[in-house]
Amino acid sequence: MTTMADVARSAGVSVATVSHVLNGTRPVLPRTRQAVLDAVEELGYTPNTLARSLVTSRTRSIGLAVSAISNPYFTEILQGVEAGALEHGYSLLIADPHDDPEHERKVVQLLHERRVEGMVVAPSAQPRELLSYLGRHRVPAVLLDRVVDGSGGGGAPFDQVCAENTEPTARLVTHLAELGHRRIALVAGLPGLSTTAERITGYRHGLAAAGLPYDEQLLAHGDSESAGAERATAALLSSGARPTALVTANNAMTIGALRALRAHGLSVPEDIALCCFDDFAWADLFSPRLTAIAQPSRDIGARAVQVLLDRLAEPDRPARTVRLPCAFVHRTSCGCPDGPERPERPERGVLRDRRGR
Ligand code: HPA
Repeated sequence: MTTMADVARSAGVSVATVSHVLNGTRPVLPRTRQAVLDAVEELGYTPNTLARSLVTSRTRSIGLAVSAISNPYFTEILQGVEAGALEHGYSLLIADPHDDPEHERKVVQLLHERRVEGMVVAPSAQPRELLSYLGRHRVPAVLLDRVVDGSGGGGAPFDQVCAENTEPTARLVTHLAELGHRRIALVAGLPGLSTTAERITGYRHGLAAAGLPYDEQLLAHGDSESAGAERATAALLSSGARPTALVTANNAMTIGALRALRAHGLSVPEDIALCCFDDFAWADLFSPRLTAIAQPSRDIGARAVQVLLDRLAEPDRPARTVRLPCAFVHRTSCGCPDGPERPERPERGVLRDRRGR
């Protein structure tokens, strides 16, 4: 195995000079630098980061623990974290806690044992053990997507990065109300997640803003996944208080809701309007095209890395929660007519007469 000493000998410089060239720790004359790089190339030298970690006590690695990695929302977050880490010379160790509190604590411990310099974690719905572990071991960590108040665990406040949830959900509801809908249902996520609570709050704010009463029969629990949403939507459709419009609180639940609507022989938006939290890369290929709230998933991931690096640089800085705005992507599943130039919000009552609502 080629060593740094071999490179130094071949380039006719000291080992320290090779190290400065490779690590960028000191300026080196361009001619000397080129000689080192040529020797590296010729000898096929690759640095041994494990050996360097033993000397520096730094692994230049970040741990990422997110469940449901196959969900496009989290896949994009992962891409953002990876890009952010790479940009700053960090590599990534990834674990999937399966949204299970016990497994979550275990994988976080494993990442910690690998001496990652910090972690980005999307907490499960019961994050007590996780928070307690991070606080007890003083692990520099950024919580992602799901916000916690810190009081349930080690008491330590954490840096957090997430999307706005309340206002965008309210926006979907008021949009449907402006189209004349009076019975708007929400297929909500897993209890215990802040995203679920905030989207329910947004739903209620939207109803209140539109002057509509809150009816608990129109709040269904889809448990954040497709099968749960399919069951919840089917129950809504079979109930006496059948909605005329549906808001789904994440991408997986949109799929489940669409399955239930198809099973009931209902067309969107003719029989029932649909607005979704979460956009899909392929949402404009659905028929009808989905009106959705797009989360800035990649930015959430990249921002989490930035917040973590700030924490590593300044361990005693106050904890902060960063919220990123979402975008309202106006398509046709809400019942609005298609067209490139149509206004983002339709005129009040435009469709009311046509639908008789
Ligand atoms: N949180 C936020 N948005 C989401 C999630 C989640 O867990 N799953 C799909 N979209």
